[in-house]
Amino acid sequence: MKPWPENEQNYYKISSFHPCPKRKKIFLSPTFSSLQGTESQNLDLLYFSAKFPFMESESVGDSTYDRKAEVQAFDDSKTGVKGLLDSGMTKIPSMFYVKLDPLENTKPSDSNFSIPIIDLQDIYKSSLLRCQVVDQIRSASQKWGFFQVINHGVPKDVMDEMISGICRFHEQEAELKKPFYSRDSNKKVRYFSNSKLFRDYAATWRDTISFVANPDLLNPEQLPAVCRDIVFEYAKQVRALGIIIFELLSEALGLNSSYLKDMDAAEALHIMGNYYPHCPEPDLTLGLTKHTDFDFMTILLQDQIGGLQVLHQNQWVDVPPMQGALVVNIGDILQLMSNDKFVSVYHRVKAKTVGPRISVTTFFMDLTTSECTSQVYGPIKELLSDENPPLYRDVTRKEIMENYYAKGLDGNSYLIPLSSARCQSMFNVHINFRVLIIPYN
Ligand code: OGA
Ligand code: NI
Repeated sequence: MKPWPENEQNYYKISSFHPCPKRKKIFLSPTFSSLQGTESQNLDLLYFSAKFPFMESESVGDSTYDRKAEVQAFDDSKTGVKGLLDSGMTKIPSMFYVKLDPLENTKPSDSNFSIPIIDLQDIYKSSLLRCQVVDQIRSASQKWGFFQVINHGVPKDVMDEMISGICRFHEQEAELKKPFYSRDSNKKVRYFSNSKLFRDYAATWRDTISFVANPDLLNPEQLPAVCRDIVFEYAKQVRALGIIIFELLSEALGLNSSYLKDMDAAEALHIMGNYYPHCPEPDLTLGLTKHTDFDFMTILLQDQIGGLQVLHQNQWVDVPPMQGALVVNIGDILQLMSNDKFVSVYHRVKAKTVGPRISVTTFFMDLTTSECTSQVYGPIKELLSDENPPLYRDVTRKEIMENYYAKGLDGNSYLIPLSSARCQSMFNVHINFRVLIIPYN
């Protein structure tokens, strides 16, 4: 076994790892002595986890560089990435440097791949036509975890005005936005840049205004005046579409069409209005790093700039903007409940020299922690059999939230440690361990 490398600064500790089959926790610090502790059977694995190349972004060659101070000053400005640009900045600060994972396949995407496009127009015309749509949704959810929907019922003027409203919010005077700036994830309406700014190894090129509708629609009084009416209207429309898609997804799983709706999958919405400003050095950062969504399902509205990519068969495939379409993706909870019939896949957003790009993500699930309940999610019993045993243990919403907030933007789904069947192989899959890594302070 090799000793833990000497320069601790560039290493992370692993926390709350639940190894199978014993399910005991390992808490490690990056010192050789703790590595020699009681978990000796896991030492190979632990050593592997030692070095994370992206940490080099913290030491950019200048020993006087104080990343924490830079991040704090950025947050204190309460003006986000757009504020940096407005101040005349032409080189991106090093706190935004993202090192792409060297293990990741970065070969250009195969142009033969394209995200499925599903037309919802005919779902009420006849049961035969509905079945065809359900088949398409099943196939897209199994193979891609992503698809675009057209003729989905959300009026085009509502979508256009939602994009304009989000743009108006971000482009209004800084002083008007500042009162909304907050890191309190329990606030129903808040503006921020980078949700895990103080945790992540790198910040990314995006500002956000978020709205929680849980379980009731938003109180218009709480919404910023520049986008009040449209956010309210969009939330109503996107929830209605969410219910329709949950029905189709339930049918695609062979369940009663109200199954997911009855589980309250469409009860809580978290809407994020994202602003990706133009980026002077787009190769040094990302709009959003690789991640999976941790909810049931996400519906995305994007403008015509593009930049969203999905990892499919180890290639980054563009999700091309399409007039009138909405992008749907399966979240981690639905992967867990469907026992991997549906997949929650990695995606990211490139930074671009052109911009701003506006997108609106609607997460079906409440991302605040205040309502952490004992609600349990697990593989749907009706889908299990001797041939299809559960791949995950049941998990409470509280645990999901804790896992979600404990993980940095390190690109892995919190599902991995919940998976009992795959624990064994987990020991050998390097990349998976990042889900449990927290910065070493
Ligand atoms: C997200 C996300 C994509 C986009 O917010 O989780 O994946 O295009 N957004 O903004
Ligand atoms: Ni996402």
